[in-house]
Amino acid sequence: MSLESVRYRRGSLQVLNQLLLPQSSQYDSVSGVREGADAIRTMKVRGAPAIAIVGSLSLAVELTSNPPQQTAELLTFVRESMERLVGARPTAVNMKRAADELNAFLSREAEKPGVTVQELTDRVVQWAESLLEKDVRDNRLIGDLGAQHILQTTNAPAGVVILTHCNTGSLATAGYGTALGVVRSLQALGRLSHVFCTETRPYNQGSRLTAYELVYEKIPATLITDSMAAVTMRERQVSAVVVGADRVVANGDTANKVGTYQLAVLAKHHGIPFYVAAPSTSCDLSLPTGGSIVIEERPSQELTDINGVRVAAPGIGVWNPAFDVTPHELITGIITEHGVFRPEELRDGLSQGK
Ligand code: MRU
Repeated sequence: MSLESVRYRRGSLQVLNQLLLPQSSQYDSVSGVREGADAIRTMKVRGAPAIAIVGSLSLAVELTSNPPQQTAELLTFVRESMERLVGARPTAVNMKRAADELNAFLSREAEKPGVTVQELTDRVVQWAESLLEKDVRDNRLIGDLGAQHILQTTNAPAGVVILTHCNTGSLATAGYGTALGVVRSLQALGRLSHVFCTETRPYNQGSRLTAYELVYEKIPATLITDSMAAVTMRERQVSAVVVGADRVVANGDTANKVGTYQLAVLAKHHGIPFYVAAPSTSCDLSLPTGGSIVIEERPSQELTDINGVRVAAPGIGVWNPAFDVTPHELITGIITEHGVFRPEELRDGLSQGK
């Protein structure tokens, strides 16, 4: 059985508290939108797809336990709840896309003659529930398409060596993962030789979460610090770098966990292909380039303290952007559920895949 970041049945939502991993696996209840937004803001749950899924399901559980009595009340509640959830973390586009799609869906449904508020509420709940299955389906496609593409374009008779960053696995999604889904698919095909995962300072998604998933899945893997990426590429026969995305914009520029950009620069220097694995729900074709992506800045304590103990010199200034933008020129391919596209092919590729 693979790790579950989210446990849901109608009326009940629990999230695996990722702040406590890998020391303990504790599921925390989320009873509504306020708790959903808090779980996202505090990073109990994180990863672009998981944020949208937990946010939308937090709305579903609140609607199930406390259904509105009037259609106007439902419409306002859904709109305001989605605004609150979108505001919890700004960079990943998935929650914003979910909000736009749900508001549009609800407006269309509400215009249908004779529809009752109970029926509308049910449709919203079902809509949120459908995200879970769709995400796992998309991730499996991403994994398989990415694995096939890498095998077709890489000469690695002894198996493929992948370097990855941050956490893009079951913990960041509804299951299987995106970049880690590609790793899983390579492993399932018997063609994975090794994975290097970066520590991913300062939040350590790599050492705490990806390492945990890799050990759990018995995937041959080694943890490196972020500053070891260059030497690893030069001395460990890395076949490809595969990372996830929080937002891929129209020209292929990609926001992902801080440190991704430097990996892309290093990959170019070493002649190693650099892939972004992301569902279409992480793509934002409304922005032409990465320059207009809002990058979340996080508290300075994430750099200065370890487990609540100050390790940095008192008085030093701190800059802690949670994400950076990798320019499209450094990206070999974007692996989506609709296919693997060069950055300049993304827009057309996604519109044909719809
Ligand atoms: O700050 P986080 O942990 O939410 O950042 C997560 C990432 O940057 C992931 O690479 C991205 O969301 C893709 S998850 C499939």
